Amino acid sequence: MVRLGVNIDHVVTVREARRTFEPDPVSAALQCEEAGCDGIVCHLRKDRRHINEKDLYGLKQKVRTRLNMEMSVDPEIVDIACRARPDQATLVPENRREITTEGGLDVAGNFEKVRDVVGRLSSAGIEVSLFIDPEPEQAAASKKAGVNMVEFHTGRYAEAFNAGGDHMKELGCLRDMSAAAIEEGLVVCAGHGLNYRNVTPVARMNGMYELNIGHSIISRAVFVGIKEAVKEMKGLLA
Ligand code: PXP
Repeated sequence: MVRLGVNIDHVVTVREARRTFEPDPVSAALQCEEAGCDGIVCHLRKDRRHINEKDLYGLKQKVRTRLNMEMSVDPEIVDIACRARPDQATLVPENRREITTEGGLDVAGNFEKVRDVVGRLSSAGIEVSLFIDPEPEQAAASKKAGVNMVEFHTGRYAEAFNAGGDHMKELGCLRDMSAAAIEEGLVVCAGHGLNYRNVTPVARMNGMYELNIGHSIISRAVFVGIKEAVKEMKGLLA
């Protein structure tokens, strides 16, 4: 069965809308685990619009499945990651003005920088994954940068699906890239924009290891509660 990582950033988006103490991301993470998720994902951004260091340490202490910290290659954030030691770090591009992570990391274009950060995080005992667009040169550069795992950005597929466009073309591209990356010996994950309607074809891809999903699960949680929202998504991955 494909693993489910739940991104809890948007629990904190609600908290930060009031700069207050609730809802608490650690409690949310524990409920997601009780509901059967396989990992918790959080993104420590430079602007701290979601979690902050205190949240990160709280999650590190309490998460029993697997803590996957999304992060940029910014030196301050890399230092924090090396101190906090999540189980996994996923390197993503980060741009202050974006609403959410737009596109994958340009590993080929920033090869030395990415390779150095992969080396530092790996030396700290953290497994590293790279969030990349489903493009051959990015997968090849990722392998060369020293990771064993990549996460393909599913945004183009999700947007095409939601807009009633040609999502089969994007799905085919994801499928081909996943097969090629697995052939190269990489563990393949995927995420971004996946929801209860569009997730199944991605979950059914041969060899898909894990899907990381945030916005849709937290949105559904508003209506049915976070445990039920996670259970429903897990059911679709079965
Ligand atoms: N994976 C990565 C690397 C991401 O940056 C994000 C968004 O923070 C997600 C998965 C989850 O995306 P969504 O919130 O659209 O499900």
